[in-house]
Amino acid sequence: MGRNITKLKGRDAMQLDQKIVVVTGASSGLGEATAKAMAGRGARLALLARNRERLGRVAAEITQQGGQAATFPVDLTDAAAVDRVSRAIMSSLGVPDVLVNNAGAGGWRFTEETGPEDVVQAMAAPYFASFYLTRAFLPDMLRRGSGHVLNVTSPVCFFAWPGASAYGAARWAMRGFTELLRADVAGTRLKVSLVCAGLIDTPYFDNNPGSKERIPGVGRLFRTLQPEEVAEAMVRAVERGQRDVVLPVLLKQTLLLQRLAPWLVEWLVRRTGYRRPAQPPVVPTGARVTHIHPNRRGNGRPGRHV
Ligand SMILES: NC(=O)c1ccc[n+]([C@@H]2O[C@H](COP(=O)([O-])OP(=O)(O)OC[C@H]3O[C@@H](n4cnc5c(N)ncnc54)[C@H](OP(=O)(O)O)[C@@H]3O)[C@@H](O)[C@H]2O)c1
Repeated sequence: MGRNITKLKGRDAMQLDQKIVVVTGASSGLGEATAKAMAGRGARLALLARNRERLGRVAAEITQQGGQAATFPVDLTDAAAVDRVSRAIMSSLGVPDVLVNNAGAGGWRFTEETGPEDVVQAMAAPYFASFYLTRAFLPDMLRRGSGHVLNVTSPVCFFAWPGASAYGAARWAMRGFTELLRADVAGTRLKVSLVCAGLIDTPYFDNNPGSKERIPGVGRLFRTLQPEEVAEAMVRAVERGQRDVVLPVLLKQTLLLQRLAPWLVEWLVRRTGYRRPAQPPVVPTGARVTHIHPNRRGNGRPGRHV
């Protein structure tokens, strides 16, 4: 299954053949496509997610195609379970060469619609999960002197759109973690990449109902990506030692525009963003209901309270 990469660029480029690749969220969507793409290059896969059956199906499909994959069912938001699973991966396969932090969930809600438990859950996967797993493998990767960590996030980490505050903050955390991890490993041969893709055709929005309709109108100008093309872009990033993965092209161009005219991009995102449904006015409990007399001057301003 392995394929020789003839044009390796840079000293941090990596041939995937026989390399150990850990993919989180490998039971579905982008993680599944990434695991299959890496296996297609001859990598030995460790597949992580909670759903044992779906992980088993992905592993079986990889092995049927002549690839190598082992499953490690785990809830990545549980720090102790992540420690156990990382030790199991290292003792059965070895120290990972590539870690793809992709697992994530979370519905899109306004701040006032989001409960304390929802915000903890939103941060837990992807952000805490990525942090726990990266810190578990990092000492051995540093000792070996090689490795590539890819952190998957969403365009919301560049553009703050309305109606998705906990989800968005968790993706900003992924971007922040990527930058700070890069600073931590500067001067070593470890690589860290941010993977930022627009809308991808995966079960994400079925798994997180009430969210898709909140994509800002301007986002509909971006073509919907197939998980396989995002996966292929990640493979290329590892093979070429590339820094970041941003797609589609229009998203890259919008990021450039944001540098030149941040106010314009902010205006577009806000102007076409999701609006709260109209709500009745709030009357504080116990407050006297007031009536507002029409302003006799007829200038449209409210009159006095009575
Ligand atoms: N779809 C898009 O348009 C889009 C765009 C940009 C970025 N993304 C990001 O891409 C990533 C993958 O999403 P997707 O689109 O492939 O959606 P998906 O099909 O819903 O996949 C999410 C994956 O994360 C796993 N997961 C969730 N919580 C977990 C936990 N606590 N522990 C272990 N695994 C967990 C799920 O597996 P189990 O349920 O089996 O645990 C599943 O494999 C997400 O971080 C998402 O934010 C998606």
